[in-house]
Amino acid sequence: MPNAEITGWGKCLPPAVLSNHDLEKLTDTSDEWITTRTGIKERRISHVEVSDMAEVASRRALAAAGKEPSDVDLIVLATCTGDSIIPSTAAILQDKLGAYNAAAFDLNAACSGFIYALVVASNMIRAGTHRTVLVVGSEKLHYHLDFTDRSTAVLFGDAAGAVVLEATEEPVGLLNSELGMDGSVWDILRVPKDGNVGDPGPRLPEEGGIRMNGPEVFRRAVTTMSEAAVRTIEGAGLQLDDVDLFIPHQANVRIIDAAAKRLGLPESKVFINIGSYGNTSAATIAVALTEALEEGRVSPGDVIVFAAFGAGLSWAAAVLRWGDRVTPLGTSDADLPPTDKDAFALLEPNLEYYGRPELPRDE
Ligand code: UT7
Repeated sequence: MPNAEITGWGKCLPPAVLSNHDLEKLTDTSDEWITTRTGIKERRISHVEVSDMAEVASRRALAAAGKEPSDVDLIVLATCTGDSIIPSTAAILQDKLGAYNAAAFDLNAACSGFIYALVVASNMIRAGTHRTVLVVGSEKLHYHLDFTDRSTAVLFGDAAGAVVLEATEEPVGLLNSELGMDGSVWDILRVPKDGNVGDPGPRLPEEGGIRMNGPEVFRRAVTTMSEAAVRTIEGAGLQLDDVDLFIPHQANVRIIDAAAKRLGLPESKVFINIGSYGNTSAATIAVALTEALEEGRVSPGDVIVFAAFGAGLSWAAAVLRWGDRVTPLGTSDADLPPTDKDAFALLEPNLEYYGRPELPRDE
């Protein structure tokens, strides 16, 4: 049975930055609250679509693997903010890449999406049906930000990340994984109407927007993410001491710290970049992995653990053994088209649609 090795990696961060201080002008919040309660300092706001960010991250990942789009035989795109319901965003991405030899589908497991996609793709390689798979996480979460709800509007950002998985006979890649879902609490984190429920017609502002019972998600996130990580490590026949790098979903630095503490991992083994990007849902772990490699935090043969949780409530954990190569084979000059719009200009439609919150200085 072949194994599935990550041979390429890439990210795409749209250029417009929205800082906590900028948010003070959009909603009733403060840099101090956001920093101490979440660890986030700034996030990116996209001027393009999910498929555009996915294309750039994918081209960079393919170059890192030394592959062409025509080499890819499967694309799995994890997103909960895709360009359209019909067709899948993976179809649009396939066209943008010109990867016409690939089957392609979207996968929605919210913030757990990238790990879900990685596990599905790895298992398809192991089953022998596919050999070169592009796994992408791409999100434009700002589309759903309602600044009259300060408890969610400060948390999310836009980004994409991608990896190339290739069949190999070497004992590397996914060692063990766990995918889970507790649908009994599906309503504690959701966008109320952005699908096919109810009568056709435009949704009302109160039917959109990310709505969340934050403290309840927080409580469940810490236990599910850490328990799944421990089960997955032990199920791989490893011990917590064997872990070289833990890359958790970046939703709140307090959740990451609590999970790392439960795993007994020192700070040096935990990857954190939430300060720069906020929660980018399915893009998070692919971006974090790419940055860990860029920063020299991954060595040949390392044991890497991914863990995430998200709407559903979904959760996922994966343990991987890294291969020999920690540097890219090539680079790509693919990039997003330039924009002269800043984050405020890009968020103006949100304020128009959901309403402008009253700010303390207005009172
Ligand atoms: O990927 C999965 C996605 N979601 C998550 O992982 C989120 C999990 N939950 C969280 O990260 C945290 O629950 C939040 C960051 C969302 C909220 O932090 P918290 O410490 O749980 O705060 P809270 O909801 O209990 O609210 C505490 C206070 C409230 O004020 P009062 O009622 O005590 O006066 C809120 O109104 O903080 C207030 N608050 C804010 N204040 C300033 C909530 N949001 C803000 C804000 N700025 N942005």
